[in-house]
Amino acid sequence: MPRLILAILIISMAATTPPAQAQPPTNWAKRLNPGGGPESITNLRFYFHDIPSGQNPSAVQIVKPATAGTSNNSFFGMVMMTDDALTVAADAGSKLVGRAQGMYTFASQSDLTVLMAMSFGFTDGPYNGSSLVVVGRNPILETDRELPVLGGTGRFRMARGYALVKTVSADANGNVVVYYNVTVYAPASGDDE
Ligand SMILES: *[C@@H]1O[C@H](CO)[C@@H](O)[C@H](O)[C@H]1NC(C)=O
Ligand SMILES: *[C@@H]1O[C@H](CO)[C@@H](O)[C@H](O)[C@H]1NC(C)=O
Ligand SMILES: *[C@@H]1O[C@H](CO)[C@@H](O)[C@H](O)[C@H]1NC(C)=O
Repeated sequence: MPRLILAILIISMAATTPPAQAQPPTNWAKRLNPGGGPESITNLRFYFHDIPSGQNPSAVQIVKPATAGTSNNSFFGMVMMTDDALTVAADAGSKLVGRAQGMYTFASQSDLTVLMAMSFGFTDGPYNGSSLVVVGRNPILETDRELPVLGGTGRFRMARGYALVKTVSADANGNVVVYYNVTVYAPASGDDE
């Protein structure tokens, strides 16, 4: 990304407030209705690390913005491919619980709004091997955003739900950490608790 535009992005993001309370690093996912019912309700909280810079970026540009080289700064048309780490705390070195693999594309001609199309694959505890599909519009400069959860696999087969997301930090190189608080409803399988 051009430096000036990145700087604008960072400054705007700095204005967002971090979540009032970071979650405890253990118990990142928990069943809200243990003990049964036809449906499981699960709350998952983790941090998403989108790292477009450095030696080993986890987000790479695969399509340039249609407005490349102009003063238009919405990046309309740009497509990024991700393999972003999901961890229990905002610290990138904290325990890894999954990866967000997919794309986000800059979908607005006038502001920084992306369309996310990602599979969040989990690798920890009872959710190891299960995944969630997150697809939707994400106006990345807004403090509080909501993304739809449209499906999943494993424990989250036939899932539906929503993710409440908030940017926690953004550095001068465009590396961003986003807090996810996800609530998922899925038909209970024999594997649940
Ligand atoms: C970017 O280009 C689009 C389409 O031409 C236009 O509608 C929009 O206002 C421009 N945005 C900026 C920030 O210049
Ligand atoms: C997750 O599952 C894979 C495949 O079954 C296994 O190799 C890995 O050790 C498991 N990881 C954890 C943290 O349970
Ligand atoms: C997570 O979101 C739910 C609403 O779905 C809210 O009740 C809860 O307080 C949030 N928890 C945290 C720790 O952000």
